[in-house]
Amino acid sequence: MNMNFNTSSLNLAITPYVVGVNPPVTKPNPVFLTDIGEEEMRDLFRRFYTKLYESPIRDIFPLNREEMMIASQHSADFFIQICGGPQYFNQNRGAPQMRGRHAPFRITPQGRIHWLKTFEEALKPIIDDKKTSEANIQSFWNYIDIFSQWMVNTQD
Ligand code: HEM
Repeated sequence: MNMNFNTSSLNLAITPYVVGVNPPVTKPNPVFLTDIGEEEMRDLFRRFYTKLYESPIRDIFPLNREEMMIASQHSADFFIQICGGPQYFNQNRGAPQMRGRHAPFRITPQGRIHWLKTFEEALKPIIDDKKTSEANIQSFWNYIDIFSQWMVNTQD
C-alpha cells in the first residue's frame, strides 16, 4: 500500500478576479526574504522571467533575452523591497506606482492567471527544498494573488 503522509497545508489557489475590485493588500512576511536571502530572490525572478519568456503571455514582455533579464532584476529589486529589504527599487527605478507602470501593457484577467501559474512554477524549488516555512510561502503567495488583481487593466 502506498501511504501518503503529505501534511502540506500550502494553498496556491488563484482568487477569481472581479472587475473593478482591488482588495486590500498585505505585504509578505519579511522572514520569507531573510530565510531565502537576496540571491535566492534574484534566482527566483530569473527563473520566473525565463518561464514568462516561454509562456502564453510572452508577447507583453521584452522580446530580447538580455532585456528580459534586466526586467527580472527590476522585479527582484521590488520584491526585496516589499519584503522589508533594502530600497533597491526606489533607488534604481523611483516610486513603485505599480498600476501606472503596468498601464502601457495589456493585462487581462486571463493574463493574470498565466502570470500566477508561471510564478507557481518558479516557486517550486523554494517549496521543494524547504528554503522557508510553508507559512512564509503562503504569505508571499497571498500577496501576489491579491496584488496581481490590481494590475489587471483590460477585459478579455
Ligand atoms: C503582484 C503583482 C505584480 C507585481 C508586484 C509586479 C511587479 C513588477 C515590477 C516591479 C516591474 C518592473 C517595473 C519597472 O522596473 O519599471 C514589472 C514590470 C512588468 N510587469 Fe509586473 N507585477 C505584477 C503583476 C503583473 C502581471 C499580473 C502582469 C501581466 C500579466 C505583469 C506584467 C508586467 C510587464 C509586461 C512588465 C514590463 C516588463 C519590463 O520591465 O519591460 N505584472 N512588474
